[in-house]
Amino acid sequence: MNTVQTIQELQDRVRTARSVGKRIGCVPTMGALHAGHVSLIEAARVETDFVVVTVFVNPTQFGPGEDLSKYPRPLEADLAKCRDGGVDLVFNPDVATVYPAGDATFVEVPSCSQSLEGAHREGHFRGVATVVLKLFNMVLPDVAYFGQKDYQQQLLIRHMVKDLNVPVEIRTCPTIREPDGLALSSRNIYLSDAERRSALVLSQALKIGHAVCTAQKKAPAEARQAMLELLANHPEVKLDYAVIADANTLAEVDVAVPEMVALIAARVGTTRLIDNMLISTH
Ligand code: PAJ
Repeated sequence: MNTVQTIQELQDRVRTARSVGKRIGCVPTMGALHAGHVSLIEAARVETDFVVVTVFVNPTQFGPGEDLSKYPRPLEADLAKCRDGGVDLVFNPDVATVYPAGDATFVEVPSCSQSLEGAHREGHFRGVATVVLKLFNMVLPDVAYFGQKDYQQQLLIRHMVKDLNVPVEIRTCPTIREPDGLALSSRNIYLSDAERRSALVLSQALKIGHAVCTAQKKAPAEARQAMLELLANHPEVKLDYAVIADANTLAEVDVAVPEMVALIAARVGTTRLIDNMLISTH
């Protein structure tokens, strides 16, 4: 496995792989890798011939007062996980490589970036869309892998790729969870033991929302109510939103549509967590 910092070295190695007919898979990450990221690497290994992992904590997707400066950066451990996962190339650029002085162009995907996370994190998705398009243009992958964990993010990237005719196939891989249901996240390390226990209510609420819509065959409005009732028992969990939405548009639904998604965001202590669960009624 090689680790490179410059776009030149990255493109030399990717070009060499492509010249012998290899399909290039890309897994964009901000590092602090866990089993969720590793599952994306595994999917890329199965479906493509040359796996590039990008490790870059992207400043433009963090708002003022968010955790950019304290975001974990355990590079050696990340490289070990990539090596163990069979990654071919790690691209770990510095900020000036991705955003050279004078860089001023941004990507906006209004169809997906206004609601939910977009409403609570101003500018976040502009930063995500911009860096992902930049990384695609640097790596030039055939296929790129994203997690369902960040549901709105993968939808936004799908819209961007479609709207801008970006020649990259997007795959979305299932959310990897702890045995008790907590979705893996690089931010879970911020949680104290008590907060870690409180955080479980997010996945529990999603399961209840799912069950009310499927097993009980009730309307999403009732499922949302059941989610809110459970969450109300945990005042230490400060809810940003808990909704049931159309899985393709993210418009909130009161009446069932075939593909829905329950989405939750909340702060536990100072840590902001998000989670979601697909609900299919056909
Ligand atoms: P990061 O939070 O490091 O996540 C990288 C990828 O891993 C994302 O596609 C995310 O959805 C996926 N992921 C995270 N937790 C997961 C889990 N428990 N199960 C499955 N997949 C999981 O998301 C970002 O970085 C950034 O916004 C990025 C796309 C790299 C742009 O900077």
